[in-house]
Amino acid sequence: MSRADKAVHYAIVKQFAVITVDNPPVNALSYSVRKGLAMSLEEASENDDVSGIIITCSGRTFIAGADISEIGKPPGDPDLPELLEYLDAIEKPVMAVLHGTALGGGLETALCCNYRISTPSTRFGLPEVHLGLIPGAGGTQRLPRLIGIEKALAMVTSGNPIGADEALECGLIDKITAEDPLSASIEYLEEKIKSNCSHPSIRLQENPITKYSGLDDTFNEYKKHAEKRKRGYLAPLYNIRSVEATCELPFLDGLKFERELFEELMEGDQSKAQQYLFFAERHANKVPDMTREVVDFEVQKVAVIGGGLMGAGIAMSMANAGLPVTIIESNQKSLIRCQKNIEANFQGSQKKGRLSHAQVKQRLDYIDISLNINDVSEADLIIEAVFENMELKKDIFGKIAKLAKDKVVLATNTSALDLNEIAESSGRPQDVIGLHFFSPANVMRLLEIVRAKKTDLSIIKTCMKLAKRIKKIPVLVSVCPGFVGNRILFVRQQQAMRMALQGIDIERIDRLMVEFGFPMGPFQTADLIGLDLGWEKALTNKFLLVDKFCEAGRLGQKNAKGFYDYDKNRKAKTSAESSKLIKEFARLKGINSRELTDEEILDQCLIPMINEGVKIREEGIVSRNSDIDVIYAHGFGWPAYRGGPMYYGRNLGSEKIIKKIQNYFPLDDDKTFLPSKSFEDILYGN
Ligand code: COA
Repeated sequence: MSRADKAVHYAIVKQFAVITVDNPPVNALSYSVRKGLAMSLEEASENDDVSGIIITCSGRTFIAGADISEIGKPPGDPDLPELLEYLDAIEKPVMAVLHGTALGGGLETALCCNYRISTPSTRFGLPEVHLGLIPGAGGTQRLPRLIGIEKALAMVTSGNPIGADEALECGLIDKITAEDPLSASIEYLEEKIKSNCSHPSIRLQENPITKYSGLDDTFNEYKKHAEKRKRGYLAPLYNIRSVEATCELPFLDGLKFERELFEELMEGDQSKAQQYLFFAERHANKVPDMTREVVDFEVQKVAVIGGGLMGAGIAMSMANAGLPVTIIESNQKSLIRCQKNIEANFQGSQKKGRLSHAQVKQRLDYIDISLNINDVSEADLIIEAVFENMELKKDIFGKIAKLAKDKVVLATNTSALDLNEIAESSGRPQDVIGLHFFSPANVMRLLEIVRAKKTDLSIIKTCMKLAKRIKKIPVLVSVCPGFVGNRILFVRQQQAMRMALQGIDIERIDRLMVEFGFPMGPFQTADLIGLDLGWEKALTNKFLLVDKFCEAGRLGQKNAKGFYDYDKNRKAKTSAESSKLIKEFARLKGINSRELTDEEILDQCLIPMINEGVKIREEGIVSRNSDIDVIYAHGFGWPAYRGGPMYYGRNLGSEKIIKKIQNYFPLDDDKTFLPSKSFEDILYGN
């Protein structure tokens, strides 16, 4: 057999065997790579003329992990733990040459080598926690032995990679080289062999417990933190438990224990959902009617019109990615307020240790605030982020369309207004697109990219690329009221209000949604958003419960009273006045109380969301069910370990859902909750 279909190349350079993994795009450890590596390692071990082995990768990166598409399938011989045990036991010195990213199984491979050398830009991590897993091929046993318990805990629980300088400092790698890494590694290995030293092996290092004491507190802190910040997720706790085992078990028993935990997670529902979301995010990047011929352009300068909460957040996202941005404000007072908000926000990140003083300064240098709208003329992307008023937006688009370059993206951050109408008002609708950021825009990763009727494909391509640059997760959607995220949220909120009017405690509804995994329930969400969003006193619609609250001066967290009362620390308390308003309104509308089980309450919040998702697909607003799941997991707090509403619905089964809809909503006048006609076809389609 060839070396596993050429996924791995073998060459002799001087006295070394150079083994090169070549499995684009990210050199994942697919079956062919494992097979090829096993054959090459065996050949190198058995060749007496070979005095050392170098493992490197071609293309843009070192091995970026196990092949996620193979997880859960029969592994094929050798599986990764077997391969790495073989590698670890080789007596000749082995060196890993790292570039790009050494992640998951890639880093685990490097940890089985005696030496690691890297380029300055390499990043190292064990991101399995993001897939609902722990490293399953020795990562949790070798990493703490090499870099210490605390550092290893930070890496496996966050899943975030570290850079080369940090890796060198903590001993994860032996050397950084700015020269040709292969030549540098040959030189390094030659020296080591000449010096006759014994070649370090992590497996042979003493247990970290002998080096560190008083670790109980550390483990408990990490567990507490994981239970709070990653409530409901199993993988962070399993990662901690597995690292803890390095203090309790000899190396080989630790490996066995790690494997047991890995397999338990791999067979569970959480990891399956999180793996699904990994690919869902990548699918969302693909626009079905986009072709290679479509030419995008690079955004080098941005202008944001309006420096309020949204505008400032958008500008900070750009500055974080190193993009110069000019905010256009309408008056001096707003300009100063905007500047202060941005400074305070960056300084807050500095206080929390997330940014250095130099990084804050650099970001502030990227942001300019101006009172002159003519300053948009230099920008490749202009984003309007003023308040939701159609006339105002039309006026702005009329102006900027005349001032802007020929090649430009004209974007609006509207979440409620008709994008097609805004686009037409500009006179150049082909350049207009919606960029719907979520608040706080510098933190939230979701970006709904809204395609209007006439938006040109080159504008879409430019925005999809920009999203990646500013580290957002883009999902392309078409125009409909509320776009995708808010439209689905609206039906859930509507249903929660309906149950409240039927006499179900709002605290109970909120609690059940939080137990399901949302960060907050429907009434806590309403209070946070503000009950007066879209409410105008003169136009009060007497048929909405929130209008009743606004009339009573209960606007939500902003004035410390909404569905709940809030103390000065924004802690919610039950409100007698709120209960009274709900009861009065129910009486006014002639709604009778009823009893509901916990399951019925959850169903009545969640099932309308799935149904609305199906309707959205039916109308062609998004290209795939998984796009809706990405929107919900990244913008609306749907727990990633439950995949998203469409994934959840598919697992529940269409027959069951349709029965529940017919059961719960038989008298629905406005047909909001009637099952969509092609429910089954869509739910089980792509
Ligand atoms: N297994 C299988 N496919 C993988 C993969 C993996 N471990 N990592 C990436 N890919 C695929 C992606 O699905 C994508 O495929 P597509 O082009 O068909 O959509 C392609 O490789 C490029 O990935 P993408 O994430 O778009 O590229 P990027 O340059 O933005 O990021 C990485 C590269 C490696 C940083 C990123 O892909 C990543 O974090 N991968 C996962 C790493 C991981 O979790 N490893 C542990 C696995 S247990």
